[in-house]
Amino acid sequence: MTEKSKSTTKGINTRLAHLGYEPRSFHGFVNPPVVHASTVLFPDAATLASRDQKYTYGTHGTPTTDALCEAINALEGSAGTIVVPSGLAAVTVPLLAYLQAGDHILIVDSVYGPTRRFCNTTLRRFGVETTYYDPMIGAGIDALMRPNTRLVHTEAPGSNTFEMQDIPAIAEVAHARGALVSMDNTWATPLFFKPLDHGVDISIHAATKYPAGHSDILIGSVSANEKAWPALLDTFTNLGVCAGPDDSYMTLRGLRTMGVRLERHQQSALAIARELESSAGIARVLHPALESFPGHGIWKRDFCGSSGIFSIVLDVADQDRWKAKSHAFLDALEIFGLGYSWGGYESLAVIANLSDRTVAKAPSEGPVIRLQIGLEDVSDLMEDINRALAASLAA
Ligand SMILES: Cc1ncc(COP(=O)(O)O)c(C=O)c1O
Repeated sequence: MTEKSKSTTKGINTRLAHLGYEPRSFHGFVNPPVVHASTVLFPDAATLASRDQKYTYGTHGTPTTDALCEAINALEGSAGTIVVPSGLAAVTVPLLAYLQAGDHILIVDSVYGPTRRFCNTTLRRFGVETTYYDPMIGAGIDALMRPNTRLVHTEAPGSNTFEMQDIPAIAEVAHARGALVSMDNTWATPLFFKPLDHGVDISIHAATKYPAGHSDILIGSVSANEKAWPALLDTFTNLGVCAGPDDSYMTLRGLRTMGVRLERHQQSALAIARELESSAGIARVLHPALESFPGHGIWKRDFCGSSGIFSIVLDVADQDRWKAKSHAFLDALEIFGLGYSWGGYESLAVIANLSDRTVAKAPSEGPVIRLQIGLEDVSDLMEDINRALAASLAA
């Protein structure tokens, strides 16, 4: 309850329980109020003219969004955080903040699909050129940097095939060439990887996933270091894309239990991934914490945990059978739901669409199925997957 309980020397669950927590500011109530606000009143004409008070209008922040941003700032080690109405907005707002006509951006080829769509449509229309790069490029990114490259966007691991990236090596090159580095860190959360400690300037989070945690909220956060913060705040203020009060409150509430939920997601996903490595019908399991995974060394060096999604590559030699085999797998599942997103309490499965890749090609052994491992019991989930594998083998 004191400042000491928020200190970086305390354990992560102690910090999650107390960050963004100021009961004395709210008459002792444990949680901050959910402030629904557009108008904020000023006491007199002079203050109205100077705007010299903490809150001025709903789009610029409220005690509810401040509590959430303060908690995220503490987790990220950032100078400032904005919260926006979706994870996708958390990607697009910084792209608009740091780029202008005539600029060039480097984007990892394993990037979240809608990020690619935004670059190929909106950014192109605004005169920004995009080049996609191999996730394993590391310091080799130097060869792709141009005098007008302003931003290098990273995402590790990729959210379908889980390619890792050497973030410190990329950041070193980008900074030497005068570019900023952004990272979509949704998979790891700041609990398992802290981007700003590894040279990233802007840390992006689809807080829809693990922070909110219950498949009922869309929200995103962007946290920046001192250098990147002014431009981010400026664009956020200009666009007016502020997260709503109820969603912000519920995300702060979700953060309180994120540590224990993530621990469970981690253990269950890893147990299932390990078991599936030797299952008939599976060519490969794509999970950075598995020793067999190509990017495992980077994961082990830089990350301190793994979360709850990974993919399996079905072993289907005949490409004409990919659709039938993967559909048979999905249709036999009884506990896993078929649907997008992840980070919630329930397990989900989807077929990964990798048709947009230009550099990091899709696995060739068979269709890729992404599994989001929820909080259910591992034995029940394994039974479900084994039923699906049997159906796929029989199809
Ligand atoms: C890696 C990644 N980033 C961003 C997003 C976007 O989040 P949202 O669904 O909140 O827009 C997603 C959603 O699936 C994602 O997987």
